[in-house]
Amino acid sequence: MYSPELINRLKEVSTPFYYYDVDVLKKSLETALKASSKYSYHIHYAIKANANPRILEIIKDYGFGADCVSGNEVTTAVEFGFPAESIAFAGVGKTDREINTAIDADISAFHVESVAELEVINELAGLKNKVVNVALRLNPNVDAKTHEYITTGLSENKFGINPWELDGLVAKLPSFENLNMIGIHFHIGSQILDMTVFEELAKKVNSLMDWFEEKGIKLPYINLGGGLGVDYENTDNLISDFESYFKSINDHLEQREGQSIHFELGRSLVGTCGDLISKVLYIKNGLEKNFVIADAGMTDLIRPALYKSSHKVENLTSDGVEEKYDVVGPVCESSDTFGKNLSLPLTKRGDLLVIKTAGAYGQVMASKYNLRDIAKEYYSDEI
Ligand SMILES: Cc1ncc(COP(=O)(O)O)c(C=O)c1O
Repeated sequence: MYSPELINRLKEVSTPFYYYDVDVLKKSLETALKASSKYSYHIHYAIKANANPRILEIIKDYGFGADCVSGNEVTTAVEFGFPAESIAFAGVGKTDREINTAIDADISAFHVESVAELEVINELAGLKNKVVNVALRLNPNVDAKTHEYITTGLSENKFGINPWELDGLVAKLPSFENLNMIGIHFHIGSQILDMTVFEELAKKVNSLMDWFEEKGIKLPYINLGGGLGVDYENTDNLISDFESYFKSINDHLEQREGQSIHFELGRSLVGTCGDLISKVLYIKNGLEKNFVIADAGMTDLIRPALYKSSHKVENLTSDGVEEKYDVVGPVCESSDTFGKNLSLPLTKRGDLLVIKTAGAYGQVMASKYNLRDIAKEYYSDEI
């Protein structure tokens, strides 16, 4: 991916910056579409993973829907031309303003996370004389077996409606005159590589579909959320395993006639197309270890500090003998560390580092903490 010519061009750019490989993005989108279309599944891109304009344009052009978790994401999806009938809006704390934005945009469905939220959406839609589609986000209590901060489908998590609330909720449904309940929605977590987790989810969905059917409630819309992971270790492996993912759902989900099946993928679509490029500021020799102090930090890529996640780090401009380093950023926090005890070729001030697989939950989570600048982004077809 990083030819000597490309490295020479990158050396001219002021660091740190994100570098996006458009071909990798397109390959990822094409593979996901091919794998999902076998079963006529619909994919909504989870905008939260990366909302860069170029990336949104490309994803929209491939015909993906949009999955939003804030009013501003809904507005952005509309502005970028995602069709309203493909936009879903999830989130445990939607404000009245955000709900009104989504009602005005005529989105396809609200993914509703509580009875109280149903009441508010019903009231706000009533004020506009509209009937809006809602799907219930259910908490299936399925362990995603991923980091606790990106696990969302356990009963201890704040997300979704719990099974013990369902009887009361279903009894209330007929009173919501401005809501059209179209189905159910799930999202159990992120960076899931164990396909048995998705099988377990599909089985839980089957039993919940049975439950609703016994109550005489039809569910034309089923949304299984996102969560498919990327390979952060073997960075040559650029495309997520969409084939196995959709197959494991298809093998276990008892899809009913006329039902449409939806997914909200984020990380697996954009994670591998982006890297963070940084220059080495200093090498600092501690008593026990050597530090590489890079000019990128947790304000540019917060995942290691937030989730203890690891990104592969490579030195693009040295082929010296391997040494062990802790690669850290300049921010005044000890958690501002990209990796400990990493093997890198002998590294010196001015070397160019690549922090890999940073396309998802990278730049979109950037902050100005320490009043640092927000890293710019560059694309492979323009640099
Ligand atoms: C409701 C919802 N849907 C979809 C996603 C996308 O998940 P992923 O990027 O793991 O595919 C998220 C991410 O946390 C989410 O909260």
